[in-house]
Amino acid sequence: MGQLFNRNVLLGISGGIAAYKSAQLVRDLQELGATVRVIMTAGATEFITPLTLQALSGNPVHQHLLDAEAEAGMGHIELARWADVILIAPATANCMARLASGAADDLLTTVCLANTGPKLLAPAMNQAMWRDPATTANLNLLQERGFQLVGPAEGTQACGDVGPGRMEEPAAIAQRTSALFDSDVLDGISIVITAGPTREAIDPVRYISNHSSGKMGFALARAAADAGARTTLISGPVNLDTPDHVQRTDVVTAQQMHDASLAAVADCDIFIACAAVADYRPAEALGQKLKKSADTLQLEMVRNPDIVSAVANHPERPFTVGFAAETQDVAAYAQGKLEAKKLDLIIANDVSDTAAGFNSENNAVVVIGTDYYQELGLASKQQLGRQLVALIAEQYLATVV
Ligand code: PMT
Repeated sequence: MGQLFNRNVLLGISGGIAAYKSAQLVRDLQELGATVRVIMTAGATEFITPLTLQALSGNPVHQHLLDAEAEAGMGHIELARWADVILIAPATANCMARLASGAADDLLTTVCLANTGPKLLAPAMNQAMWRDPATTANLNLLQERGFQLVGPAEGTQACGDVGPGRMEEPAAIAQRTSALFDSDVLDGISIVITAGPTREAIDPVRYISNHSSGKMGFALARAAADAGARTTLISGPVNLDTPDHVQRTDVVTAQQMHDASLAAVADCDIFIACAAVADYRPAEALGQKLKKSADTLQLEMVRNPDIVSAVANHPERPFTVGFAAETQDVAAYAQGKLEAKKLDLIIANDVSDTAAGFNSENNAVVVIGTDYYQELGLASKQQLGRQLVALIAEQYLATVV
């Protein structure tokens, strides 16, 4: 399986002759496992038809910012959140100038502004345009803002000139895109992540649980594995595939998650408690199905062990990160949990927001440490997972040097 397996690549095509190579690029990205969606500028459609890109990508091509029908499907903000990476190939001199100016007057520039993830440019232009100081200044500005570059290559150009400015070959661009997800920042580090809900049995057919889907925890596990960590996922019952290179232990109850977590502590450098663990369980799980009789039913509940607290207070404690699911005064309540549970960091999310938190594709969080405060705005859980792993790695590594 390719390194872009399960990755969403948003391919922006701007108006240059190299746009004809974008068709092959879609194929090469797919070969590496990517799901590809395409945005074309008006100029790009002069060089290659949207129908070609639609047929190859298997998705409708996005062209217009102010298109009510397209916005009703996957709107520009949703597209920006969907993308794990935005790749612009070819990126013309004009496209780069408009990105550098912060323009948001067409779909491609607007989506770039609205996206918080990695962005990769494959420039393509005449050699004199590439060498022009205006292009150099725009490029420098874009690189300062985090845009990355693949190419351009040198050689004979469509206009007959010879020099730098030819778009890099599609296979090389696809490989470079895939390499964006490789990192060795957590090489040799062992990470354990809890994810999903727990289920606490009332009787053989009923249980107490919550709305956690596991998406946030699985996104973290994937990002940790991509960053080179030996990654273990301790998951409650969820309906998700295990990310590549992640070792998964399935559990059902809070007690089982507790036992699996403590068994993993000895070989754990960083513990991230993303699971939504039931605080209480029925005092007794009935052996037979509970019969309906009285009008009301009272269940006696007993406290479950606090898993993240047990890990943070363990004699061999790893760097311990908790989550806080709050519905009000998010930062204040999270701060209280950070201190009460003796955590190194806590990641707070507002679970009253239906666009984020439980079971959503997106999330927005505040990361709090003793001397640390960082807000990460609404993004897909995949994007946020990468941002969080980078941030946790930075904080952890600062404690071990
Ligand atoms: O799974 P998703 O649908 O993607 O949703 C993600 C999420 C909303 C579940 C996730 O982002 C999140 O907020 N997880 C923590 C949920 C939670 O139980 O928060 P809490 O504030 O109740 O608990 C605080 C911390 O203590 C958490 O790290 C929790 O894992 C831990 N805990 C809680 C109780 C317990 N008995 N043991 C624990 O370890």
